[in-house]
Amino acid sequence: MKPINVSEYEVLAQQKIEPGAWDYYQGGSDDEVTLRANRTAFERIRLRPRVLVNVETISMQTSVLGTPIAMPIMVAPTSSHCVAYPEGECATTRGTGAAGSLMIASCVSTRTLEEIAEEAQKTACPLWFQLYVFNDIQITEGLVRRAEQAGYRALVLTVDTPRLGKRERDLRNNVIIPPAPHRAANFAAGHPVFRPILTWETLAWLRGITHLPLLIKGVLTAEDALLAVQHGVDGIIVSNHGGRQLDGALASIEALPEVAEAVEGRCEIYVDGGIRRGTDVLKALALGARAVFIGRPTLWGLAVNGSEGVRDVLEILHAELELAMALSGRPTLASIDRSLVKLPSMAVL
Ligand code: FNR
Repeated sequence: MKPINVSEYEVLAQQKIEPGAWDYYQGGSDDEVTLRANRTAFERIRLRPRVLVNVETISMQTSVLGTPIAMPIMVAPTSSHCVAYPEGECATTRGTGAAGSLMIASCVSTRTLEEIAEEAQKTACPLWFQLYVFNDIQITEGLVRRAEQAGYRALVLTVDTPRLGKRERDLRNNVIIPPAPHRAANFAAGHPVFRPILTWETLAWLRGITHLPLLIKGVLTAEDALLAVQHGVDGIIVSNHGGRQLDGALASIEALPEVAEAVEGRCEIYVDGGIRRGTDVLKALALGARAVFIGRPTLWGLAVNGSEGVRDVLEILHAELELAMALSGRPTLASIDRSLVKLPSMAVL
């Protein structure tokens, strides 16, 4: 039977993926407090629907850094797609393009960035490229040049990973990343070592070596959002890496309001982490995101049915968002504002 929501894709995907790799996809760090909070925080936010609004036509086309997309829902960078499906990231990009969305390719993908870019053309999928900074700075610069050459439209620097979080499921299962027998395809000489010292100067360096728009991914505070704006970023992705880095960090939807308030429209803001329903997207837009990203749901769609599965996951969320906009009396993206949500009161400690 065809899945009717994202959770049903999750159940089916588990049957397709070997248990160690499944844990790698699903897991978070330490006690997985932040991983769970990414979901529970959404559930605690309530919607304040308006009635008697003409919702005959719902419109959700938008643009991100000038690139038009059919819905404010995009594909987050995740590594190791070949573990879910033999064609890996090449299938993901086709499915994403078919749904009219945009994909960020991870720099630790299991197909090369050039292969992904070539495949993306088949469904006109716009691509951004995600970067980690490696100990050998030449490796990072080399990736920037290759991404520029291959037609990627923006660079996304992930800043929450100076080291990998303690992912206990992977330690227990002896999983190295990417799970064997796959390898990080962009590096002929094997997976490079992360640069342990990554500072605002690194961002300034990156800003100086490329003309591509630059985003940072992994911001959770107003303080860092302001610094990012001062360093000339074009976009901020509010993210805790899907609960895989600092356990106990804020749920990303909890962090979004303070980031949006600090930035005051000076760059575009996106959010990822725990988005599984159209109503989650609606809540994120109401709290200041221009669009959202989904991580694991893309992998579930890919595992179940390759590019068609990716497309279907995005289209399910599109349909759910459309319904939620109608039911909340918000027929356009511009009509979605802060008054749509009621935040939970602060927990008493
Ligand atoms: C990730 N994420 C990630 N982020 C990044 O910047 N580069 C990467 O290579 C990866 N790889 C990766 C692998 C896997 C298996 C997962 C689950 C996540 C984090 C990702 O971009 C995103 O922040 C989260 O996945 C969003 O949360 P949800 O939608 O998975 O809850």
